[in-house]
Amino acid sequence: MTAPNIETIVSLAKRRGFVYPASEIYGGLGSSWDYGPLGVELANNIKQSWWRWLVHERDDIEGLDSSIIQNRMVWRYSGHEETFSDPLVDCRECKSRFRADKLVDEYRLNSNQNSSAQTLFVAKVGEKFGGEHLFTEGKIACPNCGKINWTKPRQFNLMFSTTVGATSADDDPNALAYLRPETAQGIFINFANVLNTSRRKLPFGIAQIGKAFRNEVTPGNFIFRTREFEQMELEYFCKPEDAPQIHQEFIDAFQEWFKSLGILAENIKLYEQAKEELSHYSDRTVDILYRFFPERDNDEAQFDELMGIANRTDYDLKTHSKKPEDAEGKRKNPDSTEDLSYFDEATKQRFYPYCIEPSAGVNRTLLAVLMDAYTEKTNDKGEVRVILKLRSELAPIKVAVLPLAKNKPEIVALAKQLKKDLLPSMRTVYDDTGGIGKLYARQDEIGTPFCVTVDHESLEDNAVTVRDRDTWEQERVKISELKNYLLERLSK
Ligand code: GAP
Repeated sequence: MTAPNIETIVSLAKRRGFVYPASEIYGGLGSSWDYGPLGVELANNIKQSWWRWLVHERDDIEGLDSSIIQNRMVWRYSGHEETFSDPLVDCRECKSRFRADKLVDEYRLNSNQNSSAQTLFVAKVGEKFGGEHLFTEGKIACPNCGKINWTKPRQFNLMFSTTVGATSADDDPNALAYLRPETAQGIFINFANVLNTSRRKLPFGIAQIGKAFRNEVTPGNFIFRTREFEQMELEYFCKPEDAPQIHQEFIDAFQEWFKSLGILAENIKLYEQAKEELSHYSDRTVDILYRFFPERDNDEAQFDELMGIANRTDYDLKTHSKKPEDAEGKRKNPDSTEDLSYFDEATKQRFYPYCIEPSAGVNRTLLAVLMDAYTEKTNDKGEVRVILKLRSELAPIKVAVLPLAKNKPEIVALAKQLKKDLLPSMRTVYDDTGGIGKLYARQDEIGTPFCVTVDHESLEDNAVTVRDRDTWEQERVKISELKNYLLERLSK
């Protein structure tokens, strides 16, 4: 089963401590969210799964943790200063502001013109926004007031700017810096450092997990699109001729990884970006889409981007290198002190490696995981219960130890001792804040795979009842075998 819509997850997330609205006691801050006790565990487990799979289990990927704030030149030469923008348009009548490209997409979709659930009119380097004439020709009405009186669409840069240093004035260009809008650039500018210190040969990758910031014009849909979010990015460097095949291998591998997190195959699909949609650095990009909006009528509109996998060619290493020259022999990048080319010992050739970039959002992955784990089940009293069928690896709490009688000191003492014994091997909690039915229901709803109940008999037979979250089946297990029993079942 999958959650019927994102709102179901929003309410569960708030009720149970996965995700809260940020700055709530001051009225909130548009589309900002805080991760609560269970949310932070779930996010950490997702990130650990990604890191273990790529950095630890493969032998060709190194990790990195680069700064969020870098020299401004990073963003000049990456192309972000000039191009990382969305086209905005204002309604002169009601003063509402919209993303012009999204309005054009909707117009095309509604008028059955060639379009897709993805944006086809993304503004790129130096390009004019493609659907401008639809506003001047009066084809698009304001979704808010229905009138047609638009300003000219204009580009709005999505990077958050700040100033570095205590004495700098707000508008001092020498102090201007940005919060990174992608983690990737921190990897490219460290390419030579990692290559030299790890003595890697092509192909190899550099992986990084960290926060990214975009001053999104239209954030929303809970944690789907926010201004502060977290990315898991891999930049995998290879010979240019190997890039297409490696690209395809990562497209296949990442679909399997999402399935290993419990995301259902029927809720995932691929989207091949059209040439006109590609970012300025990309030769080919395939997005993995997830069914974030199952409630929508149109199958196409139900899906949106979970991650993108791009062939970034040699664009980034070249653009950050001091060597490449233009037709007049002038250095294209006079600010860089490094050449990021690679010398191949076997062929004695120097070249700029190509880069395959699988880039996934932690927050969108977490949302997809929660949606597909969401299940409703009716108990024998006819009551509907929520079960979060999270994979054990991702569950914030693996085991809850519950005393059947909290007024019986021996039972409580044994339950607390069991929790203490299990803790070093698996995240375990003790809970005696309600009747057993209520305690089971609470653990089901937060995705705890097993409850261990200590009852009167436990004091006699040195055994406890282990209850399975998904089947509600119960099994009597000897205390001496409990840890191994749980470890084995959690590993499945
Ligand atoms: N380095 C390439 C890059 O940043 P992207 O498609 O812009 O590519 C990659 O972002 C992933 O980051 C997306 O697929 C999505 O999962 C996540 N992401 C991007 N913008 C986001 C936002 N505003 N809120 C939440 N996640 C976002």
